[in-house]
Amino acid sequence: PLKLGMMASGSGSNFEAIAQAIADRQLNANIQVLIYNNPAAKAAARAARWHIPAVLLNHRDFASREALDSAIVQTLRDHDVEWVIMAGWMRIVTDVLIDAFRDRVINIHPSLLPSFKGAHAIEQAFTAGVKITGCTVHLVRLEVDSGQILMQAAVPILPDDTVETLQARIQVQEHRIFPQAIAIAAQL
Ligand code: GAR
Repeated sequence: PLKLGMMASGSGSNFEAIAQAIADRQLNANIQVLIYNNPAAKAAARAARWHIPAVLLNHRDFASREALDSAIVQTLRDHDVEWVIMAGWMRIVTDVLIDAFRDRVINIHPSLLPSFKGAHAIEQAFTAGVKITGCTVHLVRLEVDSGQILMQAAVPILPDDTVETLQARIQVQEHRIFPQAIAIAAQL
């Protein structure tokens, strides 16, 4: 089984989808630990329900991005992690993390990269008026939202959509492709 270390900042629905895919034997893996940076992240309560250890590393307690990433690397190593899965991790990561887990850091982003990089991808696609957007799972490189694309899914933007309804439909696709993309990465 792949030994996964999950990183999340928010609701953790992607964390949950991966945990469920493992439970359903669609992905041969084990979640060793969840790291979260925001004390209010609902992801932590989800981890508790799955009996997965959760470690809070609050970015506000660290002097630099590198200092936070060193603590992340140490925590991942302490939990014997081999693959790092950024599931709604809203902090920019540095070479400290990327070099420690070379080609083994995976991110999900709510657009069809290379369009709409950054923290507001869904709003940007909505405002740009594109008719198709989606989500991308990719390997993490130093340059934000770059790196080899593992899987994408397209999502149409419908006439009656709001950012919220669009986000909900993108998330359905995220939950479907993320476990598959992790399996693909492990076979590269
Ligand atoms: C996901 O939609 C993910 O694509 C996005 O955050 C959401 C987290 O949802 N990530 C980014 O925007 C990264 N820049 P979740 O906490 O319910 O999994």
